[in-house]
Amino acid sequence: MRTIRGRILLSQVGLLALVLLILDAFTLATLESAYLRERRVFYLTWANIAANTATTYLPEGDPYLRYLARDFATQAGARLLYLDGSGRVVVDSYGDPALEGKTLPGAEVSEALDGKQTSTVRYFPDLGWVMYTAVPIGPSAVRPPAGAVFISASLAPVYASLRAFAVRLALITAGALLLGAVASFLLARLISRPLASLRRAAGELARGHWGHRVNLRGQDELAQLGRAFDRMAEDLQRLDRTRRRFVADASHELRTPLAALRALAEPLAHGGDLPPETYREVAGEILGQVDRMQRLTEDLLELARLDNRLEEGEHLQRAPRDLVALAREAAEAVEPLAQQKGVSLQVEPEVPTLYAEVDDEAIHRVLSNLLDNGIKYTPAGGAVTVRVSRQGERALLRVIDTGEGIPPDRLPFIFQRFYRADPARARRTGGTGLGLAIADRLVRLHGGEISVDSAPGRGSTFTVALPLRKSFPGS
Ligand SMILES: Nc1ncnc2c1ncn2[C@@H]1O[C@H](COP(=O)(O)OP(=O)(O)OP(=O)(O)O)[C@@H](O)[C@H]1O
Ligand SMILES: [Mg+2]
Repeated sequence: MRTIRGRILLSQVGLLALVLLILDAFTLATLESAYLRERRVFYLTWANIAANTATTYLPEGDPYLRYLARDFATQAGARLLYLDGSGRVVVDSYGDPALEGKTLPGAEVSEALDGKQTSTVRYFPDLGWVMYTAVPIGPSAVRPPAGAVFISASLAPVYASLRAFAVRLALITAGALLLGAVASFLLARLISRPLASLRRAAGELARGHWGHRVNLRGQDELAQLGRAFDRMAEDLQRLDRTRRRFVADASHELRTPLAALRALAEPLAHGGDLPPETYREVAGEILGQVDRMQRLTEDLLELARLDNRLEEGEHLQRAPRDLVALAREAAEAVEPLAQQKGVSLQVEPEVPTLYAEVDDEAIHRVLSNLLDNGIKYTPAGGAVTVRVSRQGERALLRVIDTGEGIPPDRLPFIFQRFYRADPARARRTGGTGLGLAIADRLVRLHGGEISVDSAPGRGSTFTVALPLRKSFPGS
């Protein structure tokens, strides 16, 4: 009985059996005592009638007494004896000569001769259960009484009907137990079935079959557990898909520069004598590709680290920093890029200073990623502006460009890793689609959020909202 189903069945049926047994025993005991009480009253009544009738005949030892004894014995369905004042048997309704004239022993007789009515139940191996009833003869004021009436009655009929009743009770009990067993079997199945399908589903998940679901119906706790399990399975499936896509994307990203490297290096290896400038030129290009790969792997590592920290609920090293100053520093760093591209770059704070608890390196990284994008995706002659403002308990950092914008159907995805709204253009600009993903995680580690507002041809605005006071991610 190791299964839950077995345990439920066993405990329910066991309990039911116990309750029924107690009930049966109680019923039988009550019935037995009621029967005996009724018999006692019955024999006492007959004994008293016999005693009253005999008052006048006893002293003479009248033969009429024998007739009376037989008559009452028949009516009471028992053996009846008339005794005299010394306990001697005067008449026996059975007419047993061995008994008549003898003194009858026993507590019942002596109590009756003491003037008391008694009734006892005795057991004899050869006769079975017997009820003895003895009452005194004569007016109760006269002591000692003139004699006594003694009735001996077999209780076999009483116990026979009790046995018959017990048999019926046993049948009813067995029926009830059977019904109980069926009911608890059904109940056990009701409980163990969903458990079995949960176990099966867990096994399927363990084998990597992420698509398997429990699909329990109903509202009870087990159905809720099943639904929670299915949600977990869905999360796992999504996670697995993300992981797979990540590996695929990462290898894809690495394949492009590796192919370029091969194309660059191969002529050098097999091409025989080449002019030294060619070597220098190719080496420069190789370095460029290596740079690109290095940036890519570093960004990937950084992303993995940030994801870990977000998951663990870790936080960054934070100290009060002036966001206006931070914005100026970030803009200065990308200024050469802007000049080269022919894009004007301004910082326009709406407040002179704005202190917030931040990790300045992280915010610098966020701002330079946004500024880099702004410059990269804005044609020459355009402008990129950084605005710093305060909104209640939050600081807002806005990077606004007048560039090409992002189509609305691409907007939801731009914070995903490796996502590039326009892959063809990205190849030109050398982006890998990790910049915004990193920025997004850094901002979230501050308990803030990053959002975008953009339309094709109208430019884009990226807004970073940071809590002014320290608050932990997720809180
Ligand atoms: N200011 C912007 N204007 C127009 N499109 C943008 C802008 N910023 C981001 N995008 C779009 O979002 C995509 C994702 O940006 P993200 O910074 O993550 O990657 P990337 O710039 O392509 O590469 P990386 O930043 O890793 O060098 C970009 O490829 C681009 O299509
Ligand atoms: Mg970028």
